[in-house]
Amino acid sequence: MYDHDVLVIGAGLAGMRAALTARENGVDVAVVTKVHPVRSHSNAAQGGINAALTDRGDAWEDHAFDTIKGSDYLADQDAVEVMCREAGNEVIAMEHMGVIFNRDEDGRLGTRAFGGQRQARTFFVADFTGQALLHVLYEQVMKAGVRVYEEWFVLSLIVRDGECGGAVLMDIRTGGIHVVRAKAVIVATGGLGRVFEPSTNALICTGDGMALTYRAGAPLMDMEMVQYHPTTLAGSGVLITEGARGEGAHLLNAEGERFMERYAPNMMELASRDVVSRSEQTEIDEGRGVNGGVLLDCRHLGEKTIRERLSQILEIARDFAGVDIFTQPIPIRPGMHYQMGGVKTDVDGLTPLAGLYAAGEAACVSVHGGNRLGANSLLDTLVFGRRSGQHASDRAKSTAYLDVDDSAAGSDRQQVRDMLEHDDGGDTFASIRRDLGEAMNRHLAVFRSQAGMEEALAILGELKERYSRVRVADKGKTFNTNLIFTLELGFMLDCAETIIMGALERRESRGAHTRTDMPERDDETWLKHIVIAKGPEAPSVEYQPITITQWEPQARSY
Ligand code: FUM
Repeated sequence: MYDHDVLVIGAGLAGMRAALTARENGVDVAVVTKVHPVRSHSNAAQGGINAALTDRGDAWEDHAFDTIKGSDYLADQDAVEVMCREAGNEVIAMEHMGVIFNRDEDGRLGTRAFGGQRQARTFFVADFTGQALLHVLYEQVMKAGVRVYEEWFVLSLIVRDGECGGAVLMDIRTGGIHVVRAKAVIVATGGLGRVFEPSTNALICTGDGMALTYRAGAPLMDMEMVQYHPTTLAGSGVLITEGARGEGAHLLNAEGERFMERYAPNMMELASRDVVSRSEQTEIDEGRGVNGGVLLDCRHLGEKTIRERLSQILEIARDFAGVDIFTQPIPIRPGMHYQMGGVKTDVDGLTPLAGLYAAGEAACVSVHGGNRLGANSLLDTLVFGRRSGQHASDRAKSTAYLDVDDSAAGSDRQQVRDMLEHDDGGDTFASIRRDLGEAMNRHLAVFRSQAGMEEALAILGELKERYSRVRVADKGKTFNTNLIFTLELGFMLDCAETIIMGALERRESRGAHTRTDMPERDDETWLKHIVIAKGPEAPSVEYQPITITQWEPQARSY
């Protein structure tokens, strides 16, 4: 058994920002991560991080309004205000830690335009901003002496009388199962992208933290809000950054037309993501697509811009699609990218369970509402990672450990034993996971309908039944990735259920949730969050009001 004041689950940007802040606040901190920290999915974030700096003639209020309009008015405005106010200091803090941002001709930090924003306020490191931030934070976490449980997997959270007191972990290298007691636990495990196939997300994005928290008794909010990014590579689904459109790339249909003129005449390719993805899907559905997608044309951007600012997508297009972006347009289509919902928290990351926090994509503060603006995700991870690290470490200073001992791991040890011993010839995880991803992508994508979502729910029921008989082929203890993938699949099924339930519940169209059978936004009835909690028999659904501070909902056009 191990003790730490603060245990952070996940070593992406939110997790490491939280860990660093908590350590700087003078407490003992550990991070547990199922992969090496710099293999976390934050690594894949390309385009940049938003902040409104006053010396650029920008204002945090403008950033906040763009974020709220982008969210289709589902975001909580008090939380958005916090994020946008603190954005500038956060970007500068990262620069001071060592992130080498691109600069403009005058030597100042440079910005590029991003979707849904009236100002170019996205700070960036070419098209690998997440990687640059992640490596610098990892250096800082190492320097600060944070203990990292690297390649350990979290099986469950320990909760006693409404309070979180630690977690049960498996050391993937040995298969040993251990209890870690903590005075505060921060869930920063990222998203659930792989509940959908394909997705821009890494294979590790399986919704672990959302499901762990949900199973522990804390609710999930806005789960129906799933973002389809407008430019993912046709075929593989790899992200092609919005930064390309920010630098001036065009979207073309089969007729060579810049079709965004018809859908968003003012902002064109830089309308909000939900708007651009719907426009693309309409072009495809109405027969003006190219092999099930549309085209992203970077040819006119010139070699200097592409090599200096879009070097990663130059390589991705070449290596994954055989496309030379200097001379050919890139075949793209909308693809699953981000979960706006997650563990319901306040602006300090606190969940309804004392001692349990969440930050980053795993959390729903809620600053993204129905549709996240590009480059607000990195910002969210850092601002709310830091705030939860601060709050959790303050709590740890004045709290004792719960009375927890090694027996807290008993049911997890039993579950793992059962899984390894059980073998009645059922499916392995792989086919269930594939069928889940394909069903979600078929029925919960850019356009949704009652019949399709009901079909997805029925399929989910069958998949859960198949999972109850799942067979773990590898019976060993050492690096049993077969077992880990099977456990992850259990988390994914829980997440999928909350997404489908939330989507069926919301009987309107808002942001990324667009129903062909209910195409209008209905503020009268649905200007509220959907909150889903795990009940003894079935999940329960409740509503939570939206916080409006200064921006009344308006019709949304770009
Ligand atoms: O397109 C992108 O570079 C993605 C950025 C984001 O999701 O924030």
